Amino acid sequence: MSPASPAPRLQQSQGAPSSRLLGIGGYRPRRIVDNAEICTMIDSTDEWIRTRSGITQRRWAGPDETIAMMGTEASRKAIERSGVDPADIDCVIVSTVTHLHQTPAIAPLIAHDLGAAGAAAFDISAACAGFCYATAMADSMIRTGTARYVLAIGVERLSDITDRNDRASAFIFADGAGAAVIGPSDTPGIGPVVWGSDGEKAGTIVQTQAWDEVLGPHGEPREGDSVFPKLRMEGREVFKWASYTVAAKAQEALDRAGLSADQLDVFIPHQANDRITSAMTRALGLPEDVVVSHDITEQGNTSAASIPLAMEALYAEGAIRSGQTALIIGFGAGLVYAGQVVVLP
Ligand SMILES: CC(C)(COP(=O)(O)OP(=O)(O)OC[C@H]1O[C@@H](n2cnc3c(N)ncnc32)[C@H](O)[C@@H]1OP(=O)(O)O)[C@@H](O)C(=O)NCCC(=O)NCCS
Repeated sequence: MSPASPAPRLQQSQGAPSSRLLGIGGYRPRRIVDNAEICTMIDSTDEWIRTRSGITQRRWAGPDETIAMMGTEASRKAIERSGVDPADIDCVIVSTVTHLHQTPAIAPLIAHDLGAAGAAAFDISAACAGFCYATAMADSMIRTGTARYVLAIGVERLSDITDRNDRASAFIFADGAGAAVIGPSDTPGIGPVVWGSDGEKAGTIVQTQAWDEVLGPHGEPREGDSVFPKLRMEGREVFKWASYTVAAKAQEALDRAGLSADQLDVFIPHQANDRITSAMTRALGLPEDVVVSHDITEQGNTSAASIPLAMEALYAEGAIRSGQTALIIGFGAGLVYAGQVVVLP
């Protein structure tokens, strides 16, 4: 280009005026693990687990219920309910902290299995906030024209990295998958995301060791070590952070969407502990008629999968319907959080 020529003007993509959730789906592993079974592994009682966490049972995946299998099954349902042709999905985002292969990401494989051939596909690590992170990214992509239809998946096999002898966490974590198809809309269907992190508290939920601390250079177990890294959690710290700091962020997400508590129909926080859900519900001053998810009682804490799974369960119960407004908020290891108001698909 000659120095005298005017600088060329690039074209930038232009997207849809708004975005919205078009369909959701979930996958629940076959095996139900009740509190009595947990109490064979740790010194606890059904009553303690119920009253301190709300959990009565959870599901743990079998060998064939892999991250890919569960993510694909949840997505198939979401795609079918959305009415979108899988070939029209431009981007697949998988949020997971339990895809135990460093590389490749699981998203390209799931995209391929679903018939979303050639879609952009990548994994994110935002723990229990992952579904809301992925929803925020999908919304931005659709409105900027980077993608037209995005599949956001949260999928976990937390049982693989749960220390079944750890009293503080063995009863909490569970497995499953949830997915949403997100696409263009003429009317606003996803409110502004309120998201952030607090790395100072990174030590409160951690994988105990890095893979290279338990495995030698060729993948062999190091002598004397138990082979798998496990999750450790300072439950009380996380509980306080979620009940105060994250509850305030949930209020901010409501405010930024321009809604008041009495204009909200549904509240689906990440299912971490039913007492955290109650504390948030109180802090938000939600009216009695707002439907609040308590899916943790049946499902345990499925991290990135918990919000879409909880949403699907509320549909199955007939408690919610398309077009209602729902506040969703995820929070967890990092520490990270993200929340937004969505119109239900
Ligand atoms: C884990 C959690 C349920 C523990 O509840 P808690 O009320 O904080 O319990 P504490 O750890 O303070 O322990 C209270 C008592 O119960 C005992 N206890 C702990 N685990 C127990 C168990 N599994 N069974 C029976 N008793 C138990 C403790 O020893 C302690 O006894 P003490 O009072 O005699 O010292 C709670 O902290 C929590 O849910 N935190 C948030 C976890 C979370 O959300 N994690 C994921 C984030 S995405």
